[in-house]
Amino acid sequence: MPDETKTAPRRANDSMGKVLLVAVSLSVVCSIIVSTVAVALRPLQEANKTLERKRNILLAAGLYREDEDIDLLFEQVEIRLVDLATGEYVEGVDATTYDQYRAAKDPDTGVVIPRDKDLAKIRRRAKDAPVYLVRDSTGLRSVILPVHGYGLYSTLYGFIALSRDGNTVQAMRVYEHGETPGLGGEVDNPDWLDKWQNKLVYDTDGQVRLAVVKGVVDSDSPEARYQVDGLGGATMTSRGVTNLVRYWLGEEGFAPFLARIRAERS
Ligand SMILES: Cc1cc2nc3c(=O)[nH]c(=O)nc-3n(C[C@H](O)[C@H](O)[C@H](O)COP(=O)(O)O)c2cc1C
Repeated sequence: MPDETKTAPRRANDSMGKVLLVAVSLSVVCSIIVSTVAVALRPLQEANKTLERKRNILLAAGLYREDEDIDLLFEQVEIRLVDLATGEYVEGVDATTYDQYRAAKDPDTGVVIPRDKDLAKIRRRAKDAPVYLVRDSTGLRSVILPVHGYGLYSTLYGFIALSRDGNTVQAMRVYEHGETPGLGGEVDNPDWLDKWQNKLVYDTDGQVRLAVVKGVVDSDSPEARYQVDGLGGATMTSRGVTNLVRYWLGEEGFAPFLARIRAERS
């Protein structure tokens, strides 16, 4: 009768050294494949990001057509760089490749926002920001401004399009955020974004009055023209949106530029 208490003799390929060698080689090969694919796909990811940004600018400008080429449609948009402190256009820098978020991090091209002025909770901003202009036969039709700021869990990135008066909202777009789906995540819901249309940014004293309120706007109130319905169960994200709008359309942001284009019209 065979002795079942004895283990079978170990075959050469079962040795611990070989098992480890196979495991390590497999992980090395897999990590090389993953990192090669990641590096190879990076330019494609960057190109897609740029395309998505253009699509959102076109959506804000009311120029987006689903079956038309985004780059071709984007030829209607003029990109300029603005010195936020003066509101003047910046010459000599390629606005098409300028990265406002990278510029914010560089001490030469970015500034620290004083705490008491940092409504959007972004700490730093670039000295210069891109603006996107759309003209028609009568002159400037839309000014599309990039905005960003902190919601509850994440930085929200978007565009606000204003009409030639530099005060009436044509559209609001939020294209990137990390808020909770169904709660703060509703910030990119087109139905909610549509509620921004025709709202006013500045009151008669030139102060930013536009705000997201808690609940539903009372349409009979004189304030209604400056107010947008809040996001249900997401008061913090809603407040974040109010704050980022107030920062970017205020004196620290695009207010000097908008004042300048208003003055040029009159
Ligand atoms: C899992 C979870 C996710 C939440 N996500 C968000 C969010 O994305 N944005 C937000 O403002 N509030 C979010 N909240 C709710 C906030 O914690 C807070 O209660 C809310 O902003 C208060 O708004 P309300 O007065 O409209 O309820 C979340 C709560 C929970 C439990």
